[in-house]
Amino acid sequence: MHDIIEELDRRRAAARLGGGTKRIEAQHAKGKLTARERLELLLDEGSFEEWDMFVEHRCTDFGMADNKIPGDGVVTGYGMINGRLVFVFSQDFTVFGGALSEAHAEKICKVMDQAMKVGAPVIGLNDSGGARIQEGVASLGGYAEVFQRNVMASGVIPQISLIMGPCAGGAVYSPAMTDFIFMVKDSSYMFVTGPEVVKTVTHEEVSAEQLGGATTHTTKSGVADLAFENDVEAILMLRRFFNYLPLNNRAGVPERPSGDPAERLDHSLDTLVPDNPNKPYDIKELILKVVDDGDFFELQSEHAKNVVIGFARFEGRSVGIVANNPLVLAGCLDIKSSIKAARFVRFCDAFGIPVVTFVDVPGFMPGTSQEYGGIIKHGAKLLYAYAECTVPKVTVITRKAYGGAYDVMSSKHLRGDVNFAWPNAEIAVMGAKGAVEIIFREEKKDPAKLAAREAEYKARFANPFVAGARGFIDDVIQPHETRKRICRSLAMLKDKKLDNPWRKHGNIPL
Ligand code: HXC
Repeated sequence: MHDIIEELDRRRAAARLGGGTKRIEAQHAKGKLTARERLELLLDEGSFEEWDMFVEHRCTDFGMADNKIPGDGVVTGYGMINGRLVFVFSQDFTVFGGALSEAHAEKICKVMDQAMKVGAPVIGLNDSGGARIQEGVASLGGYAEVFQRNVMASGVIPQISLIMGPCAGGAVYSPAMTDFIFMVKDSSYMFVTGPEVVKTVTHEEVSAEQLGGATTHTTKSGVADLAFENDVEAILMLRRFFNYLPLNNRAGVPERPSGDPAERLDHSLDTLVPDNPNKPYDIKELILKVVDDGDFFELQSEHAKNVVIGFARFEGRSVGIVANNPLVLAGCLDIKSSIKAARFVRFCDAFGIPVVTFVDVPGFMPGTSQEYGGIIKHGAKLLYAYAECTVPKVTVITRKAYGGAYDVMSSKHLRGDVNFAWPNAEIAVMGAKGAVEIIFREEKKDPAKLAAREAEYKARFANPFVAGARGFIDDVIQPHETRKRICRSLAMLKDKKLDNPWRKHGNIPL
């Protein structure tokens, strides 16, 4: 028996060493943690239950029969984050560059399958040279098995990817199908084809960082949600982020005790919106002042900044926040912001997270680049997302709600449950100036007359009461009581039930 225990210890120690001390040192020299160190930091102390530590690849080509490392380049299992269950896989770059073999893929699939059975999220820590080159199509098959599971898990359990090293070629498509992607600055990159191929095909000279680094994907492409300075910061922020998420699509939002009174008033909000309707202000100030303890976890903060998305809590319960930001492009909706907000609304809807929407939107962005880029189809994504959404929806119009964008932004007509407006809100087809220039075109030559028409239009429509008279707005509220009114609405909506008609699936404009 003693020998057997020693053998077990020896095997465990070999597996824990991964690709060996030298490669671990090389990993550290790049400022990166190892796969196991990352899991230690991510999971509650002592909670990690490892699976498949002794799995080896079955490849015999290219001398691989004699080159086996227990675990085969990925550490898998489950553990707890702040006492809540999560399944994890962490690719080990010290073992064949974290490359994915058939056996490596099977390990990932095993935790994904189990996560689906018990209803718990999956977090993948990606650090891999892609398909295990020695295995050929067996490795490609392994990827496809993972992809299939990503799709089946979508909308059932939250899936989060943290990219902590290379992630290239078809390998990017597994993270791409997860709900959130976080990256580490300067040490992670994602691209479908690397700089060498790009140079050959398009003659562009570009570095890996420029092509697919964390900054690129959190500013330009919007592929990733957030970029962090290093492994430690990324993992600690991921732990914080995890606290907002339900464990699965039936579990309901997590609740925590809140010391922030639901009835708290904030009089500084009464002067947040400038008197001049063309003057910008930062919608994030409103968000921070109304949510519990000023705690807002913003996503995609550097991409399509004209719309703000992220998680917060009211009375200790998670909500998704969507808000136009007049500080950027006057808060207009364009292609990127529509896609950004639409995907977020769909995540919230899939997982039963209420959506609170703050509206100050002068309309959809005009111009050829938007039209040629398909703003019609992309703007429709947001409209579709809000319209199909059945979770509690609370909307506050803080200033402008013009045109189609008024309809889109969680309006009453799209089954908004509670729709508030501040007293200065302007709910109309368009701004007064544009409106009179169209309907009183013949008076354009007479500026005085036109100005009078503009004033008349403003007086008639630049207020929330016309919409209020029709019941499109449930109440016109004082800015300082916004938190109180949202809290009461969400409490009233806690047990809301609404089902869409049966169908295989809808056909969102992709
Ligand atoms: C097998 C691999 C590997 C791979 C790296 N290694 N990638 N082994 N299959 N895909 C091994 C290396 O041989 C090396 O082994 C160790 O990992 C570390 O690699 P280095 O090159 O020394 O590290 P570094 O200089 O940091 O470069 C990392 C890298 C580079 C940029 C990822 O290794 C690289 O370009 N690898 C190939 C990437 C690739 O083309 N993958 C296939 C993509 S296509 P030793 O023993 O020396 O430590 C794909 C298709 C998926 O993934 C399709 C899904 C549909």
